[in-house]
Amino acid sequence: MTVKQAILPAAGLGTRFLPATKATPKEMLPLIDRPLIQYAVEEALSCGIEEFIIITGKHKRAIEDHFDSVCELEEKFRASGKEYLIEEINRFNQIKFAYIRQRVALGLGHAVLCAKPFVRGEAFAVILSDDVMDSENHLLKEMIEVYEEKKCPVVAVEEVPWTEVHRYGIIDGVLEGGVYRISGMVEKPHPESSPSNMAIIGRYILTPDIFEILERQEAGKGGEIQLTDALMKLARTKDIYGYLIKGKRYDAGDKLGYLKATVDLALKNREVSKDFEKYLVEKARSLEHASAQNSMGF
Ligand code: G1P
Repeated sequence: MTVKQAILPAAGLGTRFLPATKATPKEMLPLIDRPLIQYAVEEALSCGIEEFIIITGKHKRAIEDHFDSVCELEEKFRASGKEYLIEEINRFNQIKFAYIRQRVALGLGHAVLCAKPFVRGEAFAVILSDDVMDSENHLLKEMIEVYEEKKCPVVAVEEVPWTEVHRYGIIDGVLEGGVYRISGMVEKPHPESSPSNMAIIGRYILTPDIFEILERQEAGKGGEIQLTDALMKLARTKDIYGYLIKGKRYDAGDKLGYLKATVDLALKNREVSKDFEKYLVEKARSLEHASAQNSMGF
């Protein structure tokens, strides 16, 4: 695969998850036993991506620590004969990580621009770790294949309810052989003025020419430098494609999405799935019982 680098913006304030994110990065919130950002890194590794450029900010040091080795734990596991756990905690030791501080939260476009000095002149992925993909979803790999065929930027898109278009970058375009050729993009529009309900999801394959545009990009929605606006400008000079998500995606940056991801992942987790399923079935029964009692006026 030709895409070897990924940018992971992780400098956001995580306001949707306060107070949990007051001192803990939202990227470090766990789903079962792994933080959100680890799911993103594992997804990228499975596509042949080898280098990670993480855009961090204040209070985000836990991310660097997470991908580092932990000597105290190694010694403890060695002494107690639990060598298999050493492998688990050291899985990322050989992988290249670069960390750049985004000093001011000026938006996603600005976060991506911060990675410019580290990007070699090749296409790269941008992964937003609060969009968590089901492990059976090979979205990023499929997007890289589309990039390899078209040699143009590719963004992931998903149909969302019209009541939610104001939360996303929205595309306009025509479906051509399974992918959208994008003719317009707008960041978080009003439902009445939105060109469609096809939302950009947190996976992008971009080409380095986006940096020149980002350098000149003025603040857009919310006073921030928006990646969507820069991509719209790029679309004037080259094709940009929208790749429709086929599998399941969770918005784990949102409380309800996070809960759904936790439940679905727990049901697939070897260690807890059986007991958790039993608990859920009992819970569903008692909820059903309570709601039947309510409707009978008890
Ligand atoms: C960002 C992008 C938006 C995109 C979304 C996907 O918004 O600006 O275009 O649809 O990610 O998750 P954010 O969620 O950071 O506000």
